[in-house]
Amino acid sequence: MLLDGSGVWRYRELILPAPERFVVTRPEGNTNLYPVGIENCGSGRAGHRHIGAYAGLERFFLKHEGENPTGSFKDRGMTVGVTMANMLGAKAVACASTGNTSASLASYAAQAGLQGIVFLPATNVAGGKLAQSLAYGAKTVQIEGDFDDAMRLVEQVCNELGIYLLNSLNPFRVEGQKAIGFELLQQLDWQAPDWLVLPAGNLGNTSAIGKAFRQAYNLSLISHMPRIASIQAAGANPFYKSFKQGFARRESVQADTLATAIRIGNPVSYTRARRVIEECDGVVEQVTDEEILAAKTVIDRAGIGCEPASAATLAGVRKLVAAGIIKRDEQVVGILTGNLLKDSKTGIPQTVGGGSVKATIDAVRRVLAQ
Ligand code: F0G
Repeated sequence: MLLDGSGVWRYRELILPAPERFVVTRPEGNTNLYPVGIENCGSGRAGHRHIGAYAGLERFFLKHEGENPTGSFKDRGMTVGVTMANMLGAKAVACASTGNTSASLASYAAQAGLQGIVFLPATNVAGGKLAQSLAYGAKTVQIEGDFDDAMRLVEQVCNELGIYLLNSLNPFRVEGQKAIGFELLQQLDWQAPDWLVLPAGNLGNTSAIGKAFRQAYNLSLISHMPRIASIQAAGANPFYKSFKQGFARRESVQADTLATAIRIGNPVSYTRARRVIEECDGVVEQVTDEEILAAKTVIDRAGIGCEPASAATLAGVRKLVAAGIIKRDEQVVGILTGNLLKDSKTGIPQTVGGGSVKATIDAVRRVLAQ
């Protein structure tokens, strides 16, 4: 069946049993789970072992959601959200975004023949993401404010104009993102890992993967719930601040981080994500921009590569292992949420060595001898 080729619709009984004729799929999912731990990466992965050594883990996997059709995990939720919009007969779909949700919405809306509308902060959106929204033909509104302003405005506009809202407030987006959890469990032959670690901004993904694990556990597909560690940038850390007080109260901050995907001060899925962390005995950690960049370099140099926000995963794992919260021999899966090409500026050298070289064999020999 056509839908079985999608890493989301393969699990449709647990996501949305939509009639096939309505389904808007690229298809998505089927992303790699790279063994990168000191013990579990084979000799053909000697370069990947540097990641395991950096994390301090024997059995460590990275699931690369940047391998989805538009280069981020957002496609998993968007295929379901846009399918629902299609079933409801919507004419237009909209979202606020730090760049990846908008790229994904623009692509799926174009495929379905719907008008896509995206609200982005006027600054701090990575070039590759903005290019995608424009290329796929979404009406792109650049707000002179941050993501939290864009989120407030898109909600208001959708209510006023009857446009179908596709932020992770939309429950069908979250249903689709659960497939990250199902797929990684299937890749591990339904042997649940000890930990699942991911970057956290608006908290939709923490909510979704937590829900997937809970469902898999309730269905006896797995024998225990993995513990989830949500990693925030230190400059955009409302969930971390709240966790540190035992979730006594919800926090919001004026967000700033070079990991622009998670530059969010007031996450909309706070309540759902809080419940997930409490239920699975999870943790919330924060990492500095310097730690994110250092981890990104390790992932990039291993030949895998990711966008800055995704590297918060490795930075967070390293910190939690060093603190003894994650044990060296525990099995850990980290999520890389976005593709290297999304942001080709942050943390990547913009010139080659000392610049270009004369087109002579002597000049080339001199460079290679250095
Ligand atoms: N990593 C990347 C690459 C993201 O784009 C996002 C969120 C996250 C992590 C955090 O996931 O919000 O579910 O906690 N990006 C949203 C966007 C906000 O608009 O693209 P979350």
